[in-house]
Amino acid sequence: MRLVFMGPPGAGKGTQARIVGVRCGIPQISTGDMLRAAKAEGRLPSDLVGRMAAGALVPDAVVISLIDERTGKPDCADGFMLDGFPRTVPQATALQALLEASGLALDHVIAIELPRSLLIERAVLRRTDKRTGQIYHLKYSPPPPGADLEHRADDREDVVAKRLDTYEAMTADLLPYYEDLGILRRIDGVGAVDEVTARVLHALGLD
Ligand code: AP5
Repeated sequence: MRLVFMGPPGAGKGTQARIVGVRCGIPQISTGDMLRAAKAEGRLPSDLVGRMAAGALVPDAVVISLIDERTGKPDCADGFMLDGFPRTVPQATALQALLEASGLALDHVIAIELPRSLLIERAVLRRTDKRTGQIYHLKYSPPPPGADLEHRADDREDVVAKRLDTYEAMTADLLPYYEDLGILRRIDGVGAVDEVTARVLHALGLD
C-alpha cells in the first residue's frame, strides 16, 4: 500500500498516519519530521530554518530529494505512508515520476478536512515528546507525567495562521490533481481520534 496523507496544519495527519502505518505495517514518512530532525542535528541550512519558523514551505527540490532517498530504503519495499508530502503540484509530479520509474503508483490520497478555528486550537495546544515523537494535545490527549515535551516553534498562533494561508493557496491545485487521478479520499477530521481513524480505515477498505 502506498498512501499520502494530506491536510492543513493541525488536521491530524501525523496522528492518523502513525496509527494507520502500524495497522498496515508500513513506515510513516513525514517531511516535517525529517526537516525538524535535520534542524535538531544542525544539518538544516539557516535559510530553511528561517522559512520553517515563518510558516513558509521549503523549496520543492529539498523535500523531493529527501523523499527520493527515504523511499528507496528497504523498509519501503512493501509500501509507505507519506505525511505532509507532496504539498505542491511539482512535488506531486516528481513523486509520480519516482514511482513510475519503479513500475509503482499511489493507491490512495487521504485528505483530512477541518474548519480553520479547530485547526488553530489543535496546533497551538500540540506538544510532542522529544524522546518518542508521540504527539499529545494539552486539551484532548494530555501527556503523561514525566514526558519530555517540545512546543514547536511554528505552533505559535500567528505562525499557524500563516501556515494555514500557505496550505490553502497550495491545495487549490493539488486536490484537483489527485481528484482527476481518481485516488482522492476526503475525510471529515472533526471528532475524536478513534472516530477519524475509523473513517480513514473505511476509506482504505480496511474496516
Ligand atoms: P509539517 O510538520 O508537515 O506540519 P503541518 O503540515 O503544518 O502539519 P502539522 O504537523 O502541524 O499537523 P498534523 O496534521 O500532522 O496534525 P497532528 O497529528 O500533529 O511541516 C512543518 C513545516 O515543514 C512546513 O510548514 C514547511 O515549512 C516544512 N515542510 C514540511 N513538508 C513540506 C513539503 N512537502 N514541502 C515544503 N515544505 C515542507 O495533530 C495536531 C494536534 O491535534 C495534536 O496535538 C494532536 O494530538 C491533536 N489531534 C489530532 N487529531 C485529533 C482529534 N481527532 N481530536 C482532537 N485532537 C486531535
